[in-house]
This record gives sequence, C-alpha cells and structure tokens, in this order.
Amino acid sequence: MQAVELADVIRTNGTCRFYTDEPVSDEVLAKALDYARFAPQGGNRQPVRFIAVRDQAKKAQLAEWYRVPWKAYMEGARSGQIDIGGDFKLVENADHMADHFEDVPVIVVVCADPDGVHPTDTELGRLSVVGGGSIYPAVQNFLLGCREQGLGTALTTLLCMFEPQVKELLGIPEHILTAAHVCVGWPAKPFPRKLSRRPLGEMAFVDSWGSVLPGV
Ligand SMILES: Cc1cc2nc3c(=O)[nH]c(=O)nc-3n(C[C@H](O)[C@H](O)[C@H](O)COP(=O)(O)O)c2cc1C
Repeated sequence: MQAVELADVIRTNGTCRFYTDEPVSDEVLAKALDYARFAPQGGNRQPVRFIAVRDQAKKAQLAEWYRVPWKAYMEGARSGQIDIGGDFKLVENADHMADHFEDVPVIVVVCADPDGVHPTDTELGRLSVVGGGSIYPAVQNFLLGCREQGLGTALTTLLCMFEPQVKELLGIPEHILTAAHVCVGWPAKPFPRKLSRRPLGEMAFVDSWGSVLPGV
C-alpha cells in the first residue's frame, strides 16, 4: 500500500457514508486502534476503550436504534423545523448510511471511564466539554489511522441516546460511558479532495479574539 502524506490524510478525511461489502481485517483495524493509544488525555489516565462490532445481529440492533433519532432529525430537516444550512446532499448521504447502518462492515463503539476524564469546567454554569478532551483526540487518531490505510469512517454520536441499551447489548460495565460510534469500512466512492471548512482567518486569532493571524 502506498503511503499517504499526513497533510493529505488530514485534508481529505471526509465523512464516508457509502461502503463496499469488503471485510476489514483485524490487522488493519489494530493499526488504526494503535494510533488511538498515543492521543493525549488529562493526567495520562487513558480512559478510552474501543469495541469493534462486526456481529451482524448486534449491528442490526444498533442500526434499529440509530434510525430512531436519525429519522426524527430527517423529518425536522424535511419540514424546515431543523435548519440544515441548505446542505441537502449531506442529509441525503447521511440518510443512506442510516438505511444501511447494519451493512457497515465495522461499528466501533467508543467507551470511556468517567473517573479518568478529569473535567476542569464543571463549575462554570455552562456545558462541560473538557472531559471530552480526554476522549476525542483518541477518536481522531483512530480516524486518521483508518484514512491512512484507505479506510473510510463516519463519526456519529446519535446512538449515545441509547447508551443504556448499547451497554447491555455489548456487556459494557455499569460505570463506563459511551462517547461515539464510528462506522468503518472500505469506501465505495473516492475520498473528497476538498472538505468544506471555514477559512483559517475566521477561526484562528492572535493575542485577542478577532485579531487574525498575519499572512492569512
Ligand atoms: C460530534 C459529531 C457527531 C456526529 N454525528 C453524526 C451522526 O450521528 N451521523 C452522521 O451521519 N454524521 C455525523 N457526524 C459527521 C458530521 O456530519 C461531519 O463531520 C460534518 O458534516 C463534516 O462533514 P465532512 O466530514 O464530510 O467534511 C458527526 C460528527 C461529529 C464531530
């Protein structure tokens, strides 16, 4: 397999919602999961665990649960109650993935031990997000490890609404939480060459909010 430059891996790692039936080997999966190990987490507590679900009956159950919030979202998008910013293609593609969720070769359930995420923003009277900082860098490393090997991925979180059911299905211990469900497989379409993202000048500042990085 030809090596892909890091910049290409990062810049073309769009969400994949169309997969071939080709199985994903243990070896390929292990390599991407190994990248996840090297992500930073608060206090090096290493709270993240991954469960790669290949079992057809379990994937079918996950698919059934996934479609509950997804179809409600679709309905809202169709009726205009949910603003999708005019991106109908994204919603159409995401609907295709929802309809074929059980056919995705692997669904990787990301779990974490809440005792190991060390949130420092729980007393601020706003949404606490710092705890996720000990989880999602590992997920991103995993996504990049997949992309490097030519695998497509879709990071999803809708199934977190079914956390109690998912935990029971997969035998996840009581004190462990679920943080994401990543679809993984060989892409049926080429990787995007350009992702739709805000320009650097709108998201990176120097010294104060709104002061754009010189040269951008
Ligand atoms: C926290 C999070 C949750 C997401 N949940 C879903 C999801 O439930 N279903 C889905 O199809 N895509 C989901 N996505 C993928 C986003 O829709 C996607 O990253 C975004 O639209 C950018 O598209 P691109 O990756 O193709 O450039 C999620 C992404 C993130 C970061």
